[in-house]
Amino acid sequence: MIPRETIDTIFNTARIDEVVGDFVNLKKRGVNYLGLCPFHNEKTPSFTVSPAKGIYKCFGCGRGGNVVNFVMEHEQTDYVGAMKYLAKKYNIEIVEKERAPEEIELDNERESLMIVTSFAQKFFSDNLETEQGRAIGLSYLEERGFTPETIQKFQLGYAPESHKAFLNAALHAGYKLKFLIQAGLVSFRVREGEDETKEPLPEQCYDRFAGRVIFPIHNVSGRVIAFGGRTLKKEKTVAKYVNSPETPLYHKSNVLYGINLARRAITAEDNCFLVEGYADVISMHQSGLENTVASSGTSLTVEQVRLIRRYTPNLTILYDGDEAGLKASERGLLIALKEGMNVKLVTLPPEDDPDTFARKHSPEELKRYLKANAVDFIVFRTRTLAKLSEGDPVKRAELIKDIVHAIANIPEMITRSLYIRECSRLMQVEEPVLWSELRKVRSKLFNEVPSSVVSPKPAESVKQIPTESSDAFSVEPQEKELIRVLVKYGEEEATFVGEPEPDQEEAPIFTMKIADYIIQNLKADNVTFENLLCQRIYDECCAMFDRGEPINDEYFLRHGETDLSSFSMSLANDNYIMSDWSRRSIGIKTERDHLGITAEKAVFALKSRRVELMIKDLQEHIRQPLNDEELGNMIEHKRRLDTAKRMLKKKLGRVI
Ligand code: CTP
Ligand code: MN
Repeated sequence: MIPRETIDTIFNTARIDEVVGDFVNLKKRGVNYLGLCPFHNEKTPSFTVSPAKGIYKCFGCGRGGNVVNFVMEHEQTDYVGAMKYLAKKYNIEIVEKERAPEEIELDNERESLMIVTSFAQKFFSDNLETEQGRAIGLSYLEERGFTPETIQKFQLGYAPESHKAFLNAALHAGYKLKFLIQAGLVSFRVREGEDETKEPLPEQCYDRFAGRVIFPIHNVSGRVIAFGGRTLKKEKTVAKYVNSPETPLYHKSNVLYGINLARRAITAEDNCFLVEGYADVISMHQSGLENTVASSGTSLTVEQVRLIRRYTPNLTILYDGDEAGLKASERGLLIALKEGMNVKLVTLPPEDDPDTFARKHSPEELKRYLKANAVDFIVFRTRTLAKLSEGDPVKRAELIKDIVHAIANIPEMITRSLYIRECSRLMQVEEPVLWSELRKVRSKLFNEVPSSVVSPKPAESVKQIPTESSDAFSVEPQEKELIRVLVKYGEEEATFVGEPEPDQEEAPIFTMKIADYIIQNLKADNVTFENLLCQRIYDECCAMFDRGEPINDEYFLRHGETDLSSFSMSLANDNYIMSDWSRRSIGIKTERDHLGITAEKAVFALKSRRVELMIKDLQEHIRQPLNDEELGNMIEHKRRLDTAKRMLKKKLGRVI
């Protein structure tokens, strides 16, 4: 369908760093770029882009490929969809032959649905220009203070009162009824006695959004995937908003309204404002605060938080300020904390929501207000609750538990201790009391391995490679080996072979420095060392890496702290795990010939050993008396560890 020459032009024009850069905040690291992986949940960057090779690779989840693979994966589209996306981005014209109506049914369902939603968006926008549309729809939007530019930017529209207006227009233009229904634009009634599974006739169908002002909902790259429609009627019996149902394009819990227009500003401002409704987002944008999105009436989900965290770890929630509102948003707030976000809250005057507040004040006043009134979530809670529970010791105790529960969700230890201190001060409770409560909550909350260790793919063949060292409970050999390789070869370039994409034969090959490979890989799983000397060297290496300085063994061999220098000396001469393996595998040449493999092996041996020890530890626990729930959790935990272990063994098998 797309001519060969056009495909070539697209490949020659599209730059991977630019294409990825639209979604991922990339930082230059040597010849490559580094950022947070958009395909899995991570807190430290392990997603690498190589402009020279035109490929990307994530050390956390293993995904990788070229620019077209990236678009396919990220936009959840097929090859043709990705080509069209890139063509549009680079203003490359795709000359396709004219399509007959029946050809509009494409192979790809999602692509077909996007075509339908895009048609619908244009239809609704055009309807603002009809006589009825002007009188009702446009005048409403203008009354709400939306400028013509804003209306255009958000592609707002109007659906005519007639219950068949859209249906007829779409059928007339050649769109299949099936897709109109699947996209949630058209509803139908099944009459009594009729077969529900049969495709309905047009006579049974009617427009879902008739007579409403339309807010299209876009995905991250700005394609329309769903709609919200607001009634213009005042009656309480009519639902104020009607939204698209869940469709193959639209999963409400994964979507943030306005993200397509906000993501750049979120990165630039390093903060995201979260509001509740469509109008709130639009008014905030119109006042110049473009880093605003909405969760569209639901409480914040994990997926939504992760979407935001691709762009920033800082979240500021605007809410209209009663205790009930705060309680209702509790779940979302805890999710955000658990995902490692820094959460602030802004309370608006009780009579306002962000929309009305933004319109009442100048952009400068709005910005000043938000800045002055954004309070750290935990501090905010502690303060309000301290006030609320004055003189009621029972309530106080309850509220303290609530706060500690919230603090327990924060992943970083240091942040937790700061909050405990603050809470202790404000609530006048001794720190140790809070700590003991915190430990209780955390041991209840966290009995899982980090998700990035566990690969979702099932292991097919398991090749057993013993990595047991003489000491059954030690990771020391693996730790030492890793540090040895890092310090000795850190600055050397090596070639790595990635995992091939499921639908591709070729595994991506990429080149990078050993230090980049090891540090990114360890950071992706938040690996720490048990051997304190190893940890100290690793910490120094990370600091050097972050400053862009070369890592070299000379430095450590001459280290001012003598325990470090003599430790480095002892490391330099030994090979800690190779000996064990080389007995079993044939054909290993010198490690310098296979630096990539040496590094991979060192990384995976450590991870694999860690998981092994976690399993051992767990088995000990399972032997102790437990209630049903605890036992269930333990078993689930063990199951996950076993999967992780199998995956790592498999990987080690391949590496050898
Ligand atoms: N919402 C919804 N369905 C409803 C009510 C609300 O989907 N029946 C969602 C909409 O996304 C809405 C948001 O929840 O924007 C917030 O609801 P609400 O505060 O009631 O509406 P506003 O956004 O203030 O709407 P408006 O300013 O247009 O009155
Ligand atoms: Mn409102």
